[in-house]
Amino acid sequence: RIKRVTAPEIASRKGGTPIVALTAYTAPLAAMVDRHADLILVGDSLGMVIHGLPSTVGVTMEMMILHGQAVVRGSQRAMVVVDMPFGSYEESPEQAFRNAARIMGETGAGAVKLEGGSRMAPTIRFLTERGIPVMGHVGLTPQATHTLGGFKTQGRDSESWPLHVRDAVDIAEAGAFALVVEGVVEPLADRMTEAVAVPTIGIGASARCDGQILVLDDMLGLSGRVPRFVRKFANLGAQADEALAAYATAVRERNFPGEDNVYR
Ligand code: KIV
Ligand code: NA
Repeated sequence: RIKRVTAPEIASRKGGTPIVALTAYTAPLAAMVDRHADLILVGDSLGMVIHGLPSTVGVTMEMMILHGQAVVRGSQRAMVVVDMPFGSYEESPEQAFRNAARIMGETGAGAVKLEGGSRMAPTIRFLTERGIPVMGHVGLTPQATHTLGGFKTQGRDSESWPLHVRDAVDIAEAGAFALVVEGVVEPLADRMTEAVAVPTIGIGASARCDGQILVLDDMLGLSGRVPRFVRKFANLGAQADEALAAYATAVRERNFPGEDNVYR
């Protein structure tokens, strides 16, 4: 039985070998990611990536728990972190604890992640003091798409930098064991990384973050158009399209099933 990576182990990686993180939402892909990553995030991006929602705002606790269970079953070594969905934690520390405890208990994940800076610090402290490791998420916070006016890179205007740095410092000091820094200009990401004592995990941020995360489907080339910050390490979407075209032709031409595919 392989031992799981823990929150304190991730926290201790500040300034060390970069933390390798990816999302996964299903057992078979979690098993694949588990062979390479330190941390698997069951991101609420699953609402858009696999459920066809327009944003993460419609994602429910039930969706996060179901996919969290699948990912924990599929993986053995990597730490599994489950996103708290929009509406499940913002109201009060008590509401956040109730829902985070459900996620931890029903999935077996090692931590939860929630979005927001300074205003979420009391909630993060409340959870961590009660045994729930929390990963923070600052910069571009997709659950706030309606107040931000879309998915916009943050910190283009350097006047906003001190507030973003404050957000990172406040949640790190409140007990977050690591922070996702998403969609901020590179020099701001570097300031945030320098300002906090815990690892920053960048996405659309900077190579100098203490780790990196990408949405698995994006980096595998399964998502069609992706933002500039994604590198497609494979083009599986195009390969799948070719395979599907070949299948359709084979069926129409009665070339499939072939001799090897039938029971005599
Ligand atoms: O939901 C998600 O996939 C995320 C990562 C992109 C950090 O929050
Ligand atoms: Na997310």
